[in-house]
Amino acid sequence: MPLVAEAQERIRALADRYEHRQSALLPALFVAQEAAGYLPSETLAEVARLLELPLSEVTSVASFYRLYFLEPVGRHLILLCTNLACALNGSEAIGRHLEERLGIGFGQTTPDGAFTLRASECLAACALAPMMMVDRERFGPLTPAGVDDVLERHRGR
Ligand code: FES
Repeated sequence: MPLVAEAQERIRALADRYEHRQSALLPALFVAQEAAGYLPSETLAEVARLLELPLSEVTSVASFYRLYFLEPVGRHLILLCTNLACALNGSEAIGRHLEERLGIGFGQTTPDGAFTLRASECLAACALAPMMMVDRERFGPLTPAGVDDVLERHRGR
């Protein structure tokens, strides 16, 4: 399905804002993802067309970064940091708790479509270790009870 006109307009505006069209690619992909929910191949092709960039370049950038989704995700994306500071502070146990509470493994989405659970490299909030990001919000230092609270607050949204 083509991007809505408003998203197309925002991407064109991004293309005009930067001297090099490549500079507009990351924000343009976020605009497209926000509009389409994820980045299927036809959306990547549309971004490439709007920015006048090769599709191969758009696809390689979108597939490199973990915050771009090439497949559908739940309404809320949980990224649990498993990098060093978080690992040393108990992210493995938090991961097991998340799997148990959600009834899914990493890389999966709950059957109701509410949550997708993924592991992540450092999310640049090591002072919050162990931490996770839900959508664009950071939570930590996490405890099992804190995880339950965050899940509860997001479940109905
Ligand atoms: S190691 Fe987890 S946020 Fe940096």
